[in-house]
Amino acid sequence: MRLPYTLPKVIGHRGAAGRAPENTLAGFAEAARLGVTWVEFDVMLSADGVPVVHHDHDLARTAGGPGRVAELSYAEIAERDAGSWFGPAFTGERVPSLEAVVKELARLGLGANVEIKPAPGLATQTAVSALSVLRADWPDSLDPPLISSFNREALAAAQDWAPELPRGLLIERVPEDWRDALARLDCATLHPSRKGLDLAVVDEAKAAGFGVAVYTVNDPEEARHLLGAGVDAVITDLPDDILERI
Ligand code: G3P
Ligand code: MG
Repeated sequence: MRLPYTLPKVIGHRGAAGRAPENTLAGFAEAARLGVTWVEFDVMLSADGVPVVHHDHDLARTAGGPGRVAELSYAEIAERDAGSWFGPAFTGERVPSLEAVVKELARLGLGANVEIKPAPGLATQTAVSALSVLRADWPDSLDPPLISSFNREALAAAQDWAPELPRGLLIERVPEDWRDALARLDCATLHPSRKGLDLAVVDEAKAAGFGVAVYTVNDPEEARHLLGAGVDAVITDLPDDILERI
């Protein structure tokens, strides 16, 4: 599948993770205020099967102490404060459900790269649950979300369950089989890490008609270089710095 739209050059990582607590409603509002038109965020499942927007499989770093997302109900997760670790101004932020995030993005007019980040053994279930919410609630006013994952089983489930939504393959180190994987999963985009990225891969992916989004690029010089080399989008914690200097 080809991407049915042009990616914005700058996508806010987990909202605007360098400026506001990652993957929170306040973070998405801050990303919009800083001028991005799209954000990236991570989706995983609570123990009772609610798709929630959170990065780590454990709540220790961002939500007030240890606790596995996959072992807690959404009601238990929602009791946690997911903002005060970042700064007192954000006290009271919650780990949002995907449903709440979609509503907020609609209000803010923000498009999204939705990363499926399943706990071990839950790839298909996480993808199907997330896509059910997106299919039911994603507003017509926004471009369809771009679904990405490091997990190929999750992408295959997305392909089966919501073939109309574009998919992107996330990779830390570009694997030998990246061309086959993109073809097999009918992906529209490749999402390599900036670390050790070979620009020949970008050239080849672009020549073959794929979009390329590189994460996590926080240095404006590097962003300029990558965008000049044909990368479509950089995913950044510091969207204001990048937007100002590219
Ligand atoms: O989607 C890009 C980036 O978010 C992938 O890495 O660990 O920050 O989710 P991570
Ligand atoms: Mg992510």
